[in-house]
Order: sequence, then structure tokens, then C-alpha cells
Amino acid sequence: MDKQLSPYLLACAQKETKTVPIWLMRQAGRYMKNYMAIRQRHDFNTLLRSPDLACEITLQPVKEFAPDAAIIFADILPLLNAMGLDVAFKNGDGPVIENPLKDEADVDKLHSVDPERDLGFTLEAIKITKAELEKLGTPLIGFSGAPFTLAYYATGGERTGINLLKLMHTRPLVYKKLMEKLVDAISIYLRAQIDCGVDALQLFDSWAGMLSPREFEEFVFPYVYQILEPLRNCGRPVTYFSTQTSAYVDILNRLPCDVLSVDWRIDIAKAFREKSPRHALQGNLSPHVLLGSEKNLRATIRSHFDALLTESPSLRGYIFNLGHGIHKETPIENVHALFDEVRRIRISA
Ligand code: CP3
Repeated sequence: MDKQLSPYLLACAQKETKTVPIWLMRQAGRYMKNYMAIRQRHDFNTLLRSPDLACEITLQPVKEFAPDAAIIFADILPLLNAMGLDVAFKNGDGPVIENPLKDEADVDKLHSVDPERDLGFTLEAIKITKAELEKLGTPLIGFSGAPFTLAYYATGGERTGINLLKLMHTRPLVYKKLMEKLVDAISIYLRAQIDCGVDALQLFDSWAGMLSPREFEEFVFPYVYQILEPLRNCGRPVTYFSTQTSAYVDILNRLPCDVLSVDWRIDIAKAFREKSPRHALQGNLSPHVLLGSEKNLRATIRSHFDALLTESPSLRGYIFNLGHGIHKETPIENVHALFDEVRRIRISA
């Protein structure tokens, strides 16, 4: 992978690009007919555990839209399986943990992870997908869930996160033990993905935004830091993704990563203005806009870039993405229109 040629990798390094780099979270998935054709034959778990199918699905959006990056078709929850929890993906209901963590003894039982043994299917998928993408010059993003978001699922994953919040505030030492085990498992897993050839990494913290800035500082930041700091010299850019965290910009700005990925709850120009110089910025179109008319979608993208270009005419260190994953109800024509409109954006010198 020639890092000098990939707009995505250049933008992660805050180097100038000729075009605006674009990829979409959940770009492979249920809004695509060819994903559903495979999905009708196999359940999601089987897809995750079949490297050839995971490779094929990763490449579907690459062939359809030629995004500037691919993300390996996998999920954040098999890591919890690898640590001893039973994760079930129920059709339509999202994931369910059959034996959620209840007390300290459950946390003690969690085991450390051997990625080759426990998550070899994703590592194998990375290797074969990487070989295909090399021909196209498209970088491959590997990922993991972040500790808080994995802990949210590990303790039951109900919408309010009440079990995790109780643990945090009543048994802080058990919470700490859980987070430290997750930090170890995540770090080992990300290293294994690097060894298999991923060009970049993203840490997904989808649930961290339920906390106050003070709680985030105490219960999330130190553990994310422990994962990110040792990756600084890994030669791969690392993105920290979170949602509903626009009130924590000052704290996020202290994270030792290359890119911060923000959701639509913050104006993009404001996000660009407030980010620290050490970070590139990824985001943040609302995925809801893709559900409406093409005309409105194109107009929204133009005004998104009008605001951003006023802030930064070179758009240096900016990666276009949605603020969160694409909805499965999204018409594919709108995704084509989205790519087309973003590719029309002219960057001034
Ligand atoms: O972005 C990509 O295209 C790569 C693949 C990817 C998936 N999940 C595939 C998937 C990635 C990066 C994830 C991350 C993930 N998984 C997160 C963090 C990002 C986010 O969306 O907040 C979380 C919280 C999960 C856990 C998870 N997996 C949930 C809550 C669900 C059910 C909700 C849903 O959208 O159905 C899944 C299932 C899942 N992960 C699907 C896909 C394509 C749908 C599976 C299907 O039924 O076909």
C-alpha cells in the first residue's frame, strides 16, 4: 500500500489531498442487495466466521462506490465471546449476551484472548481481503470496540446501560478490573490485526456518550488512553469514534490518536475549529439525510462543505463519513448520489 497515494491515509496524517477522502461506517451491510443475497443463505454469525464470505462482503461496497477505504466485515462482539461470554445475534433485535457479567466472580472468570485461536476467522479475512485490496490501492481499516462500549454489552446491553452504571458507581474497583481486562484483550486483538496487514485502526465507542464529562474523564479516558498510547508508533493511523460526545471536546482533544470521528450532534465547522492540531477529523453527516430525497441530500452535502471550506480551504486533515452507521433502510441510489456529490467538491490550495 503506497501511503503517498491514498487520500484516506494522507488525510489521517494531516497531509493535503487532491480529493476529499470518503468511506462510510457500515458501508457493507443490509442496505445492499448483494449483501442481502448472501445474508439470506447464512446467519450473521456464520458470515462473521467465514473468511471468504467476510472478504466478499467487505469488497461489495468497494466495487460499488470505490470508497477511499474499506473496513473489514466483522463485529465488535466476538471479542467478548473470546473472553468467555455467549453472544447471540438475534434477527432484528440486535445482539444479546446470554450470560451477562453480574458480579466480581464473573469478571474474574473472563479469560485473556489468544487472537489466532479465538478470532482467527477475522484475522484470516483480513489477510485475504488485504491481498484483494492491494490490487486496487485501497487501504483496509481494522477495528475493535472500545472498553466502555464492550463493557456496556458485557453487562447486559440494555438501553440505559443501568448495570454498567451501577457497577461503575457502586463497585469502582470491579469496574476497573473489568476495564483493565478489556484494555488487554483489545490491545492484543488490534496488534494481531496489524500483524495481518490492516493499514489503519478504528476504536468504536458507541455508548460512551451516556456519561457526564466528569464521568467520561474518570471512567473512559484512562482506559482508551492505555490502548492508544502504545499504538502511537505502530505506523498505522488510529481513529477514536464516539457518539454524543460533543460536550467532551476538551477531553477528546487529549487522546493520543490520529483521528477523532464525531457524530452529527456538532456542527462540522465548529468541530473542525475546536479539534486539537494533533488530530484529523472524520464525520459527520447525519445518516438520516440519506433516507430522504436525493435533491435534499445533495444540497445538505454542499452546505456541509460550504461551512467546512470557510473554516479550512485546504480541508487538510478531513475525512468525510457519516456520524454513525448507515441505516439499513437507505436507498442505494442515495449512496451513489452521496459519493458523487462529495467527489464534486473542489479543494482550494
Ligand atoms: O462498518 C462496517 O461496514 C464494518 C462492519 C461492522 C459491523 N459492526 C457489521 C454489522 C462494524 C465496524 C461493526 C461495529 C459494531 N458492532 C458496533 C460499533 C459501531 C456502531 O454501530 O455503533 C457495535 C455497537 C456493534 C454491535 C452490533 N452488531 C449491533 C448493535 C448490531 C445490531 C444492530 C444492527 O444494525 O442490526 C450488530 C449487527 C451487525 N454488525 C450487522 C452488521 C452488518 C447487521 C447484521 C445482519 O443482521 O446482517
